[in-house]
Amino acid sequence: MNVNGHTLSSLFRKLQVMGSLDILSATTWDSKAVAAYYTSMGQVYKRYHSRAGAMHLPIKLNDTERHQDKLLFQALTAAELIRENKYKTVVELGCGFGFNTLHLARLFPEVQFIGMDITDSNLKAAREQAGNLPNVHFKRFDFNEAVHPYKADLVFGVETFCYAANISHLLKNIAVSLNPGGRILIFDGYETKETLSEVLNPDQSKAYALLCGGFVLTKFQSLPTVYAAIQNLGLSLELDQDYTSAILPNYKVFQKGCLNVLRFPHVSKLMALLGIIPEAALLQVPSGLFGAYFFEQQWLTYRQLLVRKPE
Ligand SMILES: C[S@@+](CC[C@H](N)C(=O)[O-])C[C@H]1O[C@@H](n2cnc3c(N)ncnc32)[C@H](O)[C@@H]1O
Repeated sequence: MNVNGHTLSSLFRKLQVMGSLDILSATTWDSKAVAAYYTSMGQVYKRYHSRAGAMHLPIKLNDTERHQDKLLFQALTAAELIRENKYKTVVELGCGFGFNTLHLARLFPEVQFIGMDITDSNLKAAREQAGNLPNVHFKRFDFNEAVHPYKADLVFGVETFCYAANISHLLKNIAVSLNPGGRILIFDGYETKETLSEVLNPDQSKAYALLCGGFVLTKFQSLPTVYAAIQNLGLSLELDQDYTSAILPNYKVFQKGCLNVLRFPHVSKLMALLGIIPEAALLQVPSGLFGAYFFEQQWLTYRQLLVRKPE
């Protein structure tokens, strides 16, 4: 495995100097750590990814769209469903700064929207953005809880169900709170294999741990497991669209930026020590370095899933 001409061992050495490996080994993986990560990284996302507050990957289907338009792809997909099915209540789980929900709430003043997240600073920013919009509310909720406190026609999650403690339980709990015939829309990255760990050599496994660690994950959900959960729960998978090639261009840009940062690993370490950048940013570098490679190898895939609860 070679990342843009760099061997894995040379990248690991630089990541060691930068401090990423030490931070990774000291991190515990739970909801508290996820919320702490998004609290400290919020401003980094706003500064380098989307001023408007999107925390997800842009979907590039042609060369003419602007970054901002590509970030709207996921919300516009939800908009089509709301329009076609005349939905009245829509919930976004893991809403972040509310980028998707706020866009939809402005498009559909007659529809009620609830955005839910575990990170208080995200919810605070979302509420500030919402101002006096009457049809949107933001609530603190951990979707790993067994009881989901809403009734909805559509529940959607963009790059957030990767944090499910148990994806089958999560889908079941959402389905209980969906109205009959309601839908779940998911955009996320997945492992393509049942057990990815079996195909990776030790260096690749280390790169995967670093890639996941950058998002406070131990691993992505496995797609075959998600398919099985949908079937076992009696839900129907109406659409399964692969957008891996559409997220790769942005991931390659991220990779290039991270390779540049890694040219001066001492500088980044010092900036984190001085509080100029958050420590979590040092963890993000390996995600940028290895993410594109794992998608290119088809070990990871980025998909839109649309799931329906029976009438
Ligand atoms: C990559 S961000 C995506 C944010 C938003 N969906 C977007 O598209 O901009 C993931 C979000 O999931 C939230 N999250 C992670 N685990 C969660 C959980 N167990 N319950 C609720 N929200 C969670 C994080 O706080 C973060 O805001």
